[in-house]
Amino acid sequence: MDVFEAIAKRHSYRGPFREQPVPRDDLRRIVQAGLQAPSGRNMQTTAFVIVDERELVRKIGALHTSNPAVQTAQAIIACIVDQQPAPVYEGHSFQVEDCAAAVENMLLAITARGYATVWIDGWLRLENRAATIGEMLGLPAGKVIRVLLPIGVPAEAWTQKEKKPFAQRAWFNRYAT
Ligand SMILES: Cc1cc2nc3c(=O)[nH]c(=O)nc-3n(C[C@H](O)[C@H](O)[C@H](O)COP(=O)(O)O)c2cc1C
Repeated sequence: MDVFEAIAKRHSYRGPFREQPVPRDDLRRIVQAGLQAPSGRNMQTTAFVIVDERELVRKIGALHTSNPAVQTAQAIIACIVDQQPAPVYEGHSFQVEDCAAAVENMLLAITARGYATVWIDGWLRLENRAATIGEMLGLPAGKVIRVLLPIGVPAEAWTQKEKKPFAQRAWFNRYAT
């Protein structure tokens, strides 16, 4: 699948996954795509914990009450950043951007390998969930989970949400209103 096809096919999947494990080779390949993402000053600040131990995956999944993709995930990738990111360029830190670039690379790799996922971020920030899951994964002090990606073979067909047309969001040479 070429990159444009993966971009077109990528979608947030919140349905159930099949009871079909994701082989470690595929998980490694997906996370390798994340490792190869660009990062501010090439600081490569995002770290990853790949959860494929069934009991642990289920324990994390059980924390979600309304998202079957999290509840039935076959594996989960946790993307980890510093709680208080140090500045790396003129007082600026880019850890959020670094993490987002890695996540997008992984979303495309997940799609290209025939799996589905959804970017879990907002949900993690509520009710101390990032810290609760961080403890399950043995995160050291000062580290926090910024994004979770539940992965599996989708049991249902979903599609990408409709995007606004090009002319409403993009222009050549000058911003147009
Ligand atoms: C920064 C960010 C945070 C997100 N957080 C969540 C989340 O916590 N839970 C969830 O179900 N989807 C989350 N999403 C997925 C978006 O809801 C989804 O990308 C959007 O609705 C567009 O749908 P699409 O991905 O199918 O194009 C998040 C996406 C981004 C980029």
